[in-house]
Amino acid sequence: MRKPIIAANWKLNKGPSDTEDFIKSFESRMSDLPKGVDIVIAPPFVSLPKATELLAQSKVRVSAQNMSEQDHGAYTGEVSAFMLKEIFVNYVILGHSERRSIYGETDAIINAKILKAHDVELKPIFCIGETLQEREDGKLEEVLRTQITEGLKNVSEKQMLDTVIAYEPVWAIGTGVTASPQQAQDAHEFCRSVITDLYGVSVSEKVRIQYGGSVKPDNASELLGQKDIDGALVGGASLEAASFAELIRNGVVD
Ligand code: PGA
Repeated sequence: MRKPIIAANWKLNKGPSDTEDFIKSFESRMSDLPKGVDIVIAPPFVSLPKATELLAQSKVRVSAQNMSEQDHGAYTGEVSAFMLKEIFVNYVILGHSERRSIYGETDAIINAKILKAHDVELKPIFCIGETLQEREDGKLEEVLRTQITEGLKNVSEKQMLDTVIAYEPVWAIGTGVTASPQQAQDAHEFCRSVITDLYGVSVSEKVRIQYGGSVKPDNASELLGQKDIDGALVGGASLEAASFAELIRNGVVD
């Protein structure tokens, strides 16, 4: 049985003071939440120290939204895996479609970042997903297989067990359009079959695959109820503590 993992991807929202407000409000709701779920919040870089400090005694874990594949040197504007470790970050979102489409991150760059994260025992939340055009052209499986295979090159079996996959159809991100539970389940089942091809069934049965793309409190139960959907990566609906807590309550049954 895979433990669900629900992560809040705040994107370019919430500096340290808004982060503090959110955490205080969210923590006051924690006693009402299901226990059998891993909860992660991913604030922007500048808010990470505040988040890890406030959540040091909490079961809520902290994730970065990106990091460099380099350790140090002349890379203006970048943040390394070691720096994230130093401030007690646990996870890092890598390969988000906004990183791919706006900042030109390729499968090879994402692969280098995933390997670097594992080097310092940061757990990657590895995002994949097709555009609407790719889906309409019948390329869904080809795109997902390539993203998974290239992104996970040289990732060991043990590291794979510490990798979370987030399937996020690009057309569902921030659009209010969600994949139907069946569309999402079919894509997740396919992703798991690719992990089986690469690592065998005993690993693929343990790997958690989140769904992302307009997950809200009122669709979380149906989506997370699907056999191969092990949680959610949530943008818009994670910005308010009340809505994120409600989404977790609706999506997870203890
Ligand atoms: P959304 O974003 O929930 O606002 O669609 C999800 C994501 O980009 O991770």
